[in-house]
Amino acid sequence: MSRLFDIDIICKTEKDTRNLAIDFAKLLPHNSSIALIGDLGMGKTTFVGGLAHGLGISDTVRSPSFNILNIYSSNVFLLHIDAYRLDGSEQATEALMLNDFLVPPYCLVVEWPERLYNFLEMCTFKVMFSMNNDFSRTICIRPIHQPF
Ligand SMILES: Nc1ncnc2c1ncn2[C@@H]1O[C@H](COP(=O)(O)OP(=O)(O)OP(=O)(O)O)[C@@H](O)[C@H]1O
Ligand SMILES: [Mg+2]
Repeated sequence: MSRLFDIDIICKTEKDTRNLAIDFAKLLPHNSSIALIGDLGMGKTTFVGGLAHGLGISDTVRSPSFNILNIYSSNVFLLHIDAYRLDGSEQATEALMLNDFLVPPYCLVVEWPERLYNFLEMCTFKVMFSMNNDFSRTICIRPIHQPF
């Protein structure tokens, strides 16, 4: 499998972040679920924009902060959740009725995953964002090996 699945990379610009996500999308197995972990303004939504592009989606990705879940489609469904406004409770997460929307083949990507009940325990990739002194971002992609 490609080393893109387990890397730390410095993205100097928004375009670098987007390009990384485009490459990642092209190698992503179907039905992946991705946790985007990082503070406000780190580039999580920028990354989703690249994912969408790499998955062949032509729509512009906008932050789903108010409606929480946005769905895009090409030959896969891209489900983009911004859980910032959720409280991490099981009830708030169930109210999204996510299972009804998870129609394979899909890619589920979640900003603020710690606020979506159980998501960090069941995701298949973690992508962590941090900012460097020169304002570039370090992005670490980690595959999560699920027990069988
Ligand atoms: N290397 C970089 N990668 C991504 N964004 C960058 C980078 N350098 C600067 N930026 C800027 O940082 C901002 C990132 O915004 P973005 O909405 O993607 O962050 P976010 O992590 O989704 O924030 P939020 O937590 O508020 O949803 C943009 O204004 C972008 O131009
Ligand atoms: Mg965002």
